[in-house]
Amino acid sequence: MCPTHFFRYCLVAYQFVYSIPKMDSWQGKVALVTGASSGIGKAIALKLASHNMKVIGCARNMRALEAVAEQAKEQCRGEIVAIRCDVEKEQDILDLFKFIDEKYSGIHVLINNAGLAHDCPLLSGKTEDWNQMLAVNVLAPTICSREAVKLMTKHGIDDGYIININSTSGHAVDNRPAAHFYQMTKFAITALSDGLRRELVGRSSRIRVTSISPGHVESDFVNRWYQREPGRAAELLSKFTAMPAEDLAETVVYALSSPRTLNICELLVKSATEY
Ligand SMILES: NC(=O)c1ccc[n+]([C@@H]2O[C@H](COP(=O)([O-])OP(=O)(O)OC[C@H]3O[C@@H](n4cnc5c(N)ncnc54)[C@H](OP(=O)(O)O)[C@@H]3O)[C@@H](O)[C@H]2O)c1
Repeated sequence: MCPTHFFRYCLVAYQFVYSIPKMDSWQGKVALVTGASSGIGKAIALKLASHNMKVIGCARNMRALEAVAEQAKEQCRGEIVAIRCDVEKEQDILDLFKFIDEKYSGIHVLINNAGLAHDCPLLSGKTEDWNQMLAVNVLAPTICSREAVKLMTKHGIDDGYIININSTSGHAVDNRPAAHFYQMTKFAITALSDGLRRELVGRSSRIRVTSISPGHVESDFVNRWYQREPGRAAELLSKFTAMPAEDLAETVVYALSSPRTLNICELLVKSATEY
């Protein structure tokens, strides 16, 4: 083979290998999933561990989190390491990233999932409820993203991935006063995702950012939202068509498996039977 043909062959092979979808390339890599003790975060953590990733799952409820880690031991090729972290506290997040730096030498995937809602309308809500939602839903994913990119950069990981669990509430305001502040926090996630992506492109980084915006998903979310009025939670849940959290977790695999030449910016996902 002449040198020109050989060079062309190598170039095509390189482009092919670089762009094919491959979940296998994440095997053995480190993922952090916030809010891994229940619902969507639990399902994503288990899904990534089933693809042989080293998953660090964080939340406050250690009993629930350790049960998830135990489930991974029985069912998955990879592992889930349970770490307590209250993402409302910046120091907890910084300590967690220090631990990841020292123990794992970097992080490849960050799933910003922890989140909550309170019934706190804009005209009558309590400031303390708004503060907690701002801390968990907005500031925590922003701090985690900054720290993750710092660690990726420090350890020369240029193909990292940040996935923000957003919501359909991050794209439209409706007539539910109980949801308005939550919608504000999720609109912020839409802006965070695109802002991060633009700053990374500006640095010529190949770290990608995807916002995944689900409709209603089976989890404890609505029960926690209306914990002061359990009757309303039951009424709301009877109106929703929810998708299983395990199925939603497939969208994370879909994004991670996409060719590295693409950035899937936004995935809006609803139950197949939801309007
Ligand atoms: N369920 C839905 O219909 C739906 C739809 C669209 C978007 N989402 C989004 O999906 C994400 C996950 O919600 P989910 O449905 O899985 O609800 P969930 O079952 O209530 O799970 C919420 C998770 O967030 C964690 N969390 C809350 N506050 C935290 C804190 N201060 N520090 C650390 N972790 C904290 C919880 O863990 P601990 O309590 O153990 O700390 C739990 O693991 C949220 O961002 C939510 O906005 C949900």
